[in-house]
Amino acid sequence: MGRLAGKVALVTGGANGIGKAIAARYAEEGAKIVIADFNEEALEGTVESFKGSGYEAFGVRVNVAEEEDVKRMVDDAVGHFGRVDILVNCAGVLDYMQAAENVEDAVWDRVMAINVGGVMRSMRKVLPLFTAQGGGIIINLASIAGLTGGRGGLTYTAAKHAVVGMTKNVASHYGAQGVRCNGIAPAQVETGLTQSTEGYDMFGLQQATRGVQLMNRAAQPLEIANIALFLASEESSYINGVILAADTGWSAY
Ligand SMILES: NC(=O)c1ccc[n+]([C@@H]2O[C@H](COP(=O)([O-])OP(=O)(O)OC[C@H]3O[C@@H](n4cnc5c(N)ncnc54)[C@H](O)[C@@H]3O)[C@@H](O)[C@H]2O)c1
Repeated sequence: MGRLAGKVALVTGGANGIGKAIAARYAEEGAKIVIADFNEEALEGTVESFKGSGYEAFGVRVNVAEEEDVKRMVDDAVGHFGRVDILVNCAGVLDYMQAAENVEDAVWDRVMAINVGGVMRSMRKVLPLFTAQGGGIIINLASIAGLTGGRGGLTYTAAKHAVVGMTKNVASHYGAQGVRCNGIAPAQVETGLTQSTEGYDMFGLQQATRGVQLMNRAAQPLEIANIALFLASEESSYINGVILAADTGWSAY
């Protein structure tokens, strides 16, 4: 029996990168998967490939910044699989490494709406289900920029610090009702998110990458997915409100 046999997992941003790797790892361990993503083409491709692998997968197109979309995402997940046991908030965008003096309002608004608002909205919608069924698991993708000050642009850093705060808040307020809410804070992961520096603030980029030679290597998405599997499984039953840094010791220096 798989470590997540019988569970239903909803993964936002699940059509690409870390979210896709998490969804695949969960599916391998017996979970039924709801993949929720903004990118329709990637969503369809991922759902089809999962089904082709024999996994139970269902796709929902969603913009996590939109309240109506988030409500529909959770309602459709419940409509299709009957319940949700695990929510992974993976949908996220970058801020072009804009340093404080160069922050553009449009970038601030978009990053905050997706990286902070999306996480809040998704948690707000699933929590009544989780408390009614006696528990549930939430895993939020933070970032090393949520635990340290200088490794991202101002907006992304603020947003990921907010994710860290929300994770601990929900763990603290809902732990007694069987909800476990934990976060993962990766350094660099090899996905499409970090492939291009086009349009970046070069001052911010230079500042944010000053210490990057002290990071041993980037991660593969599977290495983050294995952490998300541990946090979703009973093996982490006593862990709640923790942000697990995944950075080969980069932030330990
Ligand atoms: N890749 C890294 O180096 C890294 C490091 C630390 C943290 N993270 C975090 O991990 C998460 C996943 O990153 P990734 O590298 O897999 O990125 P990715 O770009 O490969 O995948 C992100 C997915 O989120 C989806 N998405 C974006 N905006 C959305 C929205 N408004 N609504 C729904 N879906 C949306 C995209 O379509 C995409 O499929 C993000 O929260 C990111 O901040 C990534």
